[in-house]
Amino acid sequence: MKKYITVLGSTGSIGCSTLAVVKLNLDKYQIFALTANTQADKLFEQCVVFKPRYAVILDKTKAKFLQDKLLNHDINTQVLSDTTDLTVVVEDPEVDIVMSAIVGSCGLLPTYSAIKANKKVLLSNKESLIAGGQLMINALKNSSATLIPVDSEHNAIFQCLEGNKTSNAFNEVSKIILTASGGPFRTMSYEDIAKVTVESALQHPNWSMGKKVTIDSSTLMNKGLEVIEAYWLFGQDLNLIDVVVHPQSIIHSMVEYVDGSVLAQLGMPDMKTPIAHALAYPNRINSGSAKLDFTKIKSLTFESPDYKRFPCLQLAFDAIISGGTMPAILNAANEVAVAAFLNKEINFYAISDTIDTAMNYFSKTDFSSIDEIIDIDSVVRDFTLNTIRKSV
Ligand SMILES: NC(=O)c1ccc[n+]([C@@H]2O[C@H](COP(=O)([O-])OP(=O)(O)OC[C@H]3O[C@@H](n4cnc5c(N)ncnc54)[C@H](OP(=O)(O)O)[C@@H]3O)[C@@H](O)[C@H]2O)c1
Repeated sequence: MKKYITVLGSTGSIGCSTLAVVKLNLDKYQIFALTANTQADKLFEQCVVFKPRYAVILDKTKAKFLQDKLLNHDINTQVLSDTTDLTVVVEDPEVDIVMSAIVGSCGLLPTYSAIKANKKVLLSNKESLIAGGQLMINALKNSSATLIPVDSEHNAIFQCLEGNKTSNAFNEVSKIILTASGGPFRTMSYEDIAKVTVESALQHPNWSMGKKVTIDSSTLMNKGLEVIEAYWLFGQDLNLIDVVVHPQSIIHSMVEYVDGSVLAQLGMPDMKTPIAHALAYPNRINSGSAKLDFTKIKSLTFESPDYKRFPCLQLAFDAIISGGTMPAILNAANEVAVAAFLNKEINFYAISDTIDTAMNYFSKTDFSSIDEIIDIDSVVRDFTLNTIRKSV
């Protein structure tokens, strides 16, 4: 029987790669719902191909346009446009699998709802785990949902832990090694990085991704967020987690065991591979990605990350050490600062300075509900916007 999938953020980079994998495996999967924020034309094209039951687009004027266009093409997809509809299309009893690929903390609520509705959740939206880590993990424990990481590093670790104990409950894992490409500014001096442009920050050496995660990769905040993501996914012991810069992005991450064995997962830098793994888990399907040709790989190199030139990585470690709401504060401030950098309102190092200001202004508190996290996210966004406005 075919599995029904809801793709949250279908018009984004991960969403499109997910649909490319599904297209190769239409004997196994059927699209139940697709969601977007504003890109109505792209969503329309996806509806033509996959004929989902629902399409959610949050821009209400574009929703009407999309519905009319679909009806004119005899496509029976129903268009919805409320934020709450994101929850409706993940909770529907017919849905088996939810791909969580919205960018930013707005992915938190639908991802949380998918877990609570006992779905197989493919987690690409790392921000939801950064902001609401403990709540998400508690919800997972209290449900029959499964959470499969899609982020290439966490998917690699998940694969390296398979057949072994999936947490460190038996003290067999001695290290979780997250690899980082180092981003486009890896070899540049602090002074030169201070002058980089948005255009150069968007030129990732290995991966083709959405703009927000590409900027996060250039500041190494992406790696910082991934440290927090790994903390929640794999045993909640920060001492186990290491970051190693590996510029070729061939080894997607590694697990070292107490006996000295290191297991690594390798592949081309193409998100279709972890997406296909997560979709089919515990089986394997064709992803459509190119295969590694070892005779063409000249070298695999490794170096330590530089926390001085890339202060965002240190800020992420500080946030998870502090705990409570601090990772949510870090995440919200980062989202606003990255948007301001993309709009050319602030320079590169103002991203980390702005996050630092927010982390110093707000004190960490404990939280016990998603609503509290959503409130904090909103307060920190307002504060960060004001900080940026005052500085320009
Ligand atoms: N891209 C990668 O290779 C990669 C790798 C690892 C992890 N990730 C993670 O995966 C997530 C998605 O990344 P991406 O690169 O695919 O992002 P992206 O290309 O920017 O796509 C984001 C998707 O979210 C939708 N969206 C944006 N704002 C929204 C809102 N307020 N409410 C509802 N939907 C909204 C967008 O709709 P519109 O298109 O209509 O704007 C789009 O469908 C991020 O958390 C990222 O960190 C990405």
